Amino acid sequence: MDHFTYRGGILHAEDVPLPAIAEAVGTPVYVYSRATLERHARVFREALSALDNPQIAFAVKANPNLAVLKVLQKQGFGADVVSGGELTRALAAGMAPGKIVFSGVGKTHAELLQALEAGIGQFNLESEEEGYELSLLAQRHGHRAACALRVNPDVDARTHDKISTGKRENKFGVPLDRAADIYAALADEAGLEMRGIAVHIGSQLASLEPLEDAFGRVGALIGQLRKRGCAVTHADLGGGLGVPYKAGEVLPTPAEYGAMVARVTRDWNVALTFEPGRVIAGNAGVLLTRVIRSKRSAGGPPFVIVDAAMNDLARPALYGAWHDFDAVEPSGELAPAHIVGPICETGDTFAMDRMCDTLAPGDLAVFRTAGAYGATMASSYNSRGFVAEVLVDGDQFAVVADRIPADAIMGAERVPEWLA
Ligand code: LLP
Repeated sequence: MDHFTYRGGILHAEDVPLPAIAEAVGTPVYVYSRATLERHARVFREALSALDNPQIAFAVKANPNLAVLKVLQKQGFGADVVSGGELTRALAAGMAPGKIVFSGVGKTHAELLQALEAGIGQFNLESEEEGYELSLLAQRHGHRAACALRVNPDVDARTHDKISTGKRENKFGVPLDRAADIYAALADEAGLEMRGIAVHIGSQLASLEPLEDAFGRVGALIGQLRKRGCAVTHADLGGGLGVPYKAGEVLPTPAEYGAMVARVTRDWNVALTFEPGRVIAGNAGVLLTRVIRSKRSAGGPPFVIVDAAMNDLARPALYGAWHDFDAVEPSGELAPAHIVGPICETGDTFAMDRMCDTLAPGDLAVFRTAGAYGATMASSYNSRGFVAEVLVDGDQFAVVADRIPADAIMGAERVPEWLA
């Protein structure tokens, strides 16, 4: 469910016709719907209503735009951050430091210190080594860091290899069979307050089974830890719930997820944290693009060349991901097309043989479900700038990220004097 619908034959974001945004802001442009974000936040919260005071920490990496974070902050969300930059954003959006968790295998000392000084709620330690380093830093600067140990449960999330994180060979967390020893050792560290276990096995999960499997292993570990006298008061179950990218695709609902979690964690007696990203922001955004021209192909359908490219929306090029592609003002005449961007590599292909409304130069179209891992993964490849982002709220909209033109990026570069 989202708030991008056709009215009078024109695709709208809430009450705003998309051509009005293209006119005012230009294309390509990411367009987010506040009502959709709020709806998903509410649905996710309600799905967890059987739990005692669950904390929801939005995975900032999915959509770090300040205005998006502000919408979610107003919904009571905290943040899951993976860099100093994301931490700065979460704080700037007004998220309470106590509701911020810090994940990631490569937190630098500067980032750890930044988070200690900000007084964040929890560090999700990804290794024993990180734990000792954090303990030293915390003691040196007069802090005590609340920590969870991230475990790698060796579960196959059955998602794309590049976004699977819970298999033994993945770089994340500590191996389950070593977790209890590591936890106990870190619990003796003066700079740390070891309080729980964290797990996240991957993203865009199409089935609850691997999650249930992983959570079951976490539950067993919690029991084991308590038996050896370790305190465990918290568990962070990560994110990962998938969303439909193709019309008609059916995925587990937040309600089904919540019911599974409630069942599996019934006896855990811990405070639970969740780190949803995609399921909150995914279909709350579209990438609005304009057709540059159509080009005949060697015998197949035409190449429809749009002004968005793999640098703006990387998922199709990186993961072979599908994004529905819809005309903003459909002609009703369907024909197959190859949808491509202007970038000079074949990977800059959004879709091959896609059945869609015939499009003429100048026509507008959207890539749907681009609100998560869209703008945030953009690059300036081919010296293209960064696209603008717009937030819609009812019949109003605002530019929430300026377009950064290619010459502004070039402005940060220098030719040294000795080369001039
Ligand atoms: N927590 C941790 C520790 C994570 O690493 C992630 C995502 C999340 C939470 C949020 O997962 P979600 O609920 O969004 O599935 N760029 C890829 C996705 C990478 C996800 C990385 N980690 C894509 O475009 O599909």
